[in-house]
Amino acid sequence: MRLIRVIEAARVGGMMRMMAVPPVKRFSHLPSMHAPFSLLSRQITMDAKNIASRLNSSGLLRTQGLLGAKWADAYDGKTIEVSNPATGEVIANVPCMGHKETNDAISSAHDAFDSWSKITAAERSKCLRKWYDLLISHKEELGQLITLEQGKPLKEALGEVSYGAGFIEFFAEEAKRVYGDIIPSTLADRRLFVLKQPVGVVGAITPWNFPLAMITRKVGPALACGCTVVVKPSELTPLTALAAAELALRAGIPPGVVNIVMGNAPEIGEALLASPQVRKITFTGSTAVGKKLMAGAAGTVKKVSLELGGNAPCIVFDDADLDVAVKGALAAKFRNSGQTCVCANRIIVQEGIYDKFANAFAKSVQNLQVGNGFSDGVAQGPLINEAAVQKVESFIQDAITKGAKVILGGKRHTLGMTFYEPTVVSDVKSEMLLSREEAFGPVAPLLRFKTEEEAIRIANDTNAGLAAYVFTNSIQRSWRVSEALEYGLVGINEGIISTEVAPFGGVKQSGLGREGSKYGIDEYLELKYVCLGNMNSN
Ligand code: SIN
Repeated sequence: MRLIRVIEAARVGGMMRMMAVPPVKRFSHLPSMHAPFSLLSRQITMDAKNIASRLNSSGLLRTQGLLGAKWADAYDGKTIEVSNPATGEVIANVPCMGHKETNDAISSAHDAFDSWSKITAAERSKCLRKWYDLLISHKEELGQLITLEQGKPLKEALGEVSYGAGFIEFFAEEAKRVYGDIIPSTLADRRLFVLKQPVGVVGAITPWNFPLAMITRKVGPALACGCTVVVKPSELTPLTALAAAELALRAGIPPGVVNIVMGNAPEIGEALLASPQVRKITFTGSTAVGKKLMAGAAGTVKKVSLELGGNAPCIVFDDADLDVAVKGALAAKFRNSGQTCVCANRIIVQEGIYDKFANAFAKSVQNLQVGNGFSDGVAQGPLINEAAVQKVESFIQDAITKGAKVILGGKRHTLGMTFYEPTVVSDVKSEMLLSREEAFGPVAPLLRFKTEEEAIRIANDTNAGLAAYVFTNSIQRSWRVSEALEYGLVGINEGIISTEVAPFGGVKQSGLGREGSKYGIDEYLELKYVCLGNMNSN
């Protein structure tokens, strides 16, 4: 049987068209006659075809990079495939760009900087507001695109569009509030000022887990204060980035202000780091890559913002409201199938409530429906790829070997592909991989503690410091514990706390800088001290 490759970027007279090609087999380790998989595959083929044709007619299905005003292929014609993680189907081919294309994108951004940084903040604000309006009016299509290339349930994908667009709206407003300072002078004939000016061209490297929101929370503040950007989205999920860039152009953001390159990640990274014209690197992704970028940025002394891996503790005290704790821990753990840097990675439960919590939590987890993100009621989509599943498997195996017990799940889902059963593991100890590193998957490890001091010690026993969650009904304890936690974000009796209006970022090896909120724009600004002397002359 021939499957249909959903979107083929064949251009005839500049138009995209659909064409049938043989399937690409990416999951050859799985039994080929797996019944649920073939059903799922047929269903998504239908969905994907409809979505593709709708996106195509609205012009949002872009499959080329954006270099200044030009939608461009890789100069050597090489492409990479973008696949639907729920089915393995190839949904598009995009250019595999490298050094040369990145250098041209940097030149376009550099050329555009002069005029973009000089127009008024009010004009930039208007363009951003228009972009926000377009993102919201295309929410359905963007949400579908996110589900198609990333796999998360459509409801979550639509939530990401609102969240992501929120950064553009927020920074459209903040653009008008980049105030400088006047400093009282120590000498009577001088006046001292501080100007805030855009850093220049920004290289923004973004991950696959939030194909839209991780871009907008970098590009929003950058553009608001007059910077121009070269964005490198993940090669796993570039289509949402390209659609957002198309909408940016439609919003009247001038060509060259937003550029998109994708493909050969090491080459693109090297070109961004080597260029003296790129004055800032902003990155969301793994700690290992973040460290390399930080070291690479030293060569040209660029500003760096890094949003890196976490190892979030979720502490449940005996005095917590059980329902609130279960609901909060479930949300914190299973958002995006566990694939966020702020997902609860260790659920640390006080001994008095441990058994009750473990039972109630496992029951809730059991109710999470796994499946294709386009199906109604699905709460857990596939993991992004086979490597992600293997990582989860190895962490669970390590925990079992060291004495932990799987109380729910613990294996690949019968749907096949990269679907994994939502899993709860009890009796997890600090030395296990599940405690030491981010699983980035749908596995919830439960650890036990006796005292508040012990909970804080366990929670802080990591090099990461991004998000932490605390469930307690004591106001005093919530203050004490929040102050003691070495983390950039703390949720008290809440499992999802990200918002464009609050600062997001980590301490220790979880990163540098903050995104979102009034603080987020500072990352894209330089301070300039101006001293006006000889004031007593005429
Ligand atoms: C991330 O996983 O890096 C971002 C999560 C969020 O914005 O809440």
